[in-house]
Amino acid sequence: MDLSMIFDDLPSVIELMIVTFTPKVFYSMLIVIALLLGLSVVFFITEKRKVLFLIGLNILVGITLVIIFFSPKVYERSYTEAYGHHVANDNEQGLKDLAADKDLIIGFASGIDRVDKGGVKARLMHEFNSYTSENDLKWSALLVDGELRKYDFTEADRSVAFAKEHGMRFRGHALIWGKGKLVQLTEEAAVADDPGAYILEEIRYHIKTVVGRYKGQVDSWDVVNEPMALMAPGFESNVFYDHMGIDYIKEALKAAHEADPDAKLFINGYVGADEEILYDLFVELIEEGIPIHGYGMQGHVMNGPMDIEKMTSFLKRISDLGLEVEITEMDVRLRAMEGYKSDDIYESQGIFYGEVIKACMEIENFRGVTFWGVNDERTWYDSVPPYKWQKPSDPLLFDSNWNRKPSYYHIYDVLMNI
Ligand code: XIL
Repeated sequence: MDLSMIFDDLPSVIELMIVTFTPKVFYSMLIVIALLLGLSVVFFITEKRKVLFLIGLNILVGITLVIIFFSPKVYERSYTEAYGHHVANDNEQGLKDLAADKDLIIGFASGIDRVDKGGVKARLMHEFNSYTSENDLKWSALLVDGELRKYDFTEADRSVAFAKEHGMRFRGHALIWGKGKLVQLTEEAAVADDPGAYILEEIRYHIKTVVGRYKGQVDSWDVVNEPMALMAPGFESNVFYDHMGIDYIKEALKAAHEADPDAKLFINGYVGADEEILYDLFVELIEEGIPIHGYGMQGHVMNGPMDIEKMTSFLKRISDLGLEVEITEMDVRLRAMEGYKSDDIYESQGIFYGEVIKACMEIENFRGVTFWGVNDERTWYDSVPPYKWQKPSDPLLFDSNWNRKPSYYHIYDVLMNI
């Protein structure tokens, strides 16, 4: 499958790059640029030859900045000694065993190719009770050559069957996603007499086809992914919203419910999405009797330890509406955790993970957490600028050799003691 089809749109990448700059980095870059501009003026009005020198200087500063901010770092891994560990042995309890008596979901996301192999499969079965297909059920990933209504279900079928065969819950991710690349839909909507009606018809066809195909096998669907804007208040402008307003969300939920009345239907979104407007949307859906069962907060932590109270208070509000809440895509970038409550960065990452899960466990309708990957050998951050240059992201609970990291143990402790 060509993943670039899903995530190669430039605006998203630029958006991500901008949110990555911490204020500190951003301001120091501004100062450098201001200094250079000042210098340029001085040089321009004195001697023109010095322009060349300035260009050279600019390049030099640019390279220095790249080296400082975008080059890989190496951190000591003292955790294998600190925890006396090693790969889990099969007689020990896994996270899913601790979660079982709390009726909690401990999930992972991945492509089916990666997980359906002896060693990996055994580890996953030991630790997890839920599987989310990372890409294979996305609309654009299901289409042959991007052509609407022309589906190839090979990978998706394998994913759903894998969960069933191994007694795991399956999360369907995701039916409607503004960032999922649907070129044909966008082009045809642009020339349709009634674009809203055209898109609605395609939404209904797609949902009926996909949800209908897996009826009874998908526990929960992310019916709409990322409805809110990442950097601005309000809903995200995308082909669905631009032509249908929030009706696209309502209609998608109705279509999904019709195709599988027993599936739980979720809206899935960023940490820190525009909470007031999103909250009002949930209230409106409930008041209008539109089928909605929960909210999934993704939980990608990319740019520094977030305020945990802030991170979880929205989940609590949604839970108080009587809906379920989950963390659906958690991964905490290692480099974002530098200095957080420990001098050992892997420990910092673990402390943060533990604190988030602990806070979530206090929320009444919290159902569990899915991690966005299986171990640090592969993470989506390693293909997304600027994180692909800012290695290591190492955002998961296990390292590439399946050693359990402090993140694992901190979550383990929370589950043990609640
Ligand atoms: C990402 C996948 O992990 C990548 O492999 C793919 O190239 C792009 O999409 N939020 C989401 C997920 O809801 O679907 C995204 O997954 C990560 C951000």
